[in-house]
Amino acid sequence: MSQIAAGTAAAAGVSRARDTDRMGREWVDVLAEVPLFANLSRRHLRHVASVARTRRFASGSSIVRAGDAGSAFYVLIDGTVRVVPASGRARRLRAGDFFGEMALFDETPRSASVVADDEVLTMTIGRRAFSKLLKQEPALAFELLRTLAARLRAAEKSV
Ligand code: CMP
Repeated sequence: MSQIAAGTAAAAGVSRARDTDRMGREWVDVLAEVPLFANLSRRHLRHVASVARTRRFASGSSIVRAGDAGSAFYVLIDGTVRVVPASGRARRLRAGDFFGEMALFDETPRSASVVADDEVLTMTIGRRAFSKLLKQEPALAFELLRTLAARLRAAEKSV
């Protein structure tokens, strides 16, 4: 799946989105398809959309650079990215996956670079809004932890 429900994304204006744009309630159907938001009601999804922006990245561009300070959290809406750590193997993330949470959680520099494999559309939430959102939405925090546990297991297997 390179794009979350092509129909709903197009309906929400993915193809018309500018480089960066506010996310409105027209995005709720798209967000409902993101595993991270699976247990959120439509009211909560509207809340998520209200604090988020869309951002577009050209193929080959660095979305996040290893060593930089983190200022935002990202959910991939369309396209694929490569997570390239300083050491260890690169990983590919696809539509519906998220990245950029680690530097926000522990306030240390970005652990890896994240590079767009093709044209990429993300949903972006700034540091403060992300931290507030996790406190307001325990279901979201739980889903995030579940994915982090899976990533930790995968990373341990690969060393
Ligand atoms: P952060 O350190 O803020 O910025 C780089 C991001 O890459 C990181 O948050 C994670 O979201 C992501 N990342 C780092 N290591 C892995 C991994 N092993 N698997 C999947 N994603 C990763």
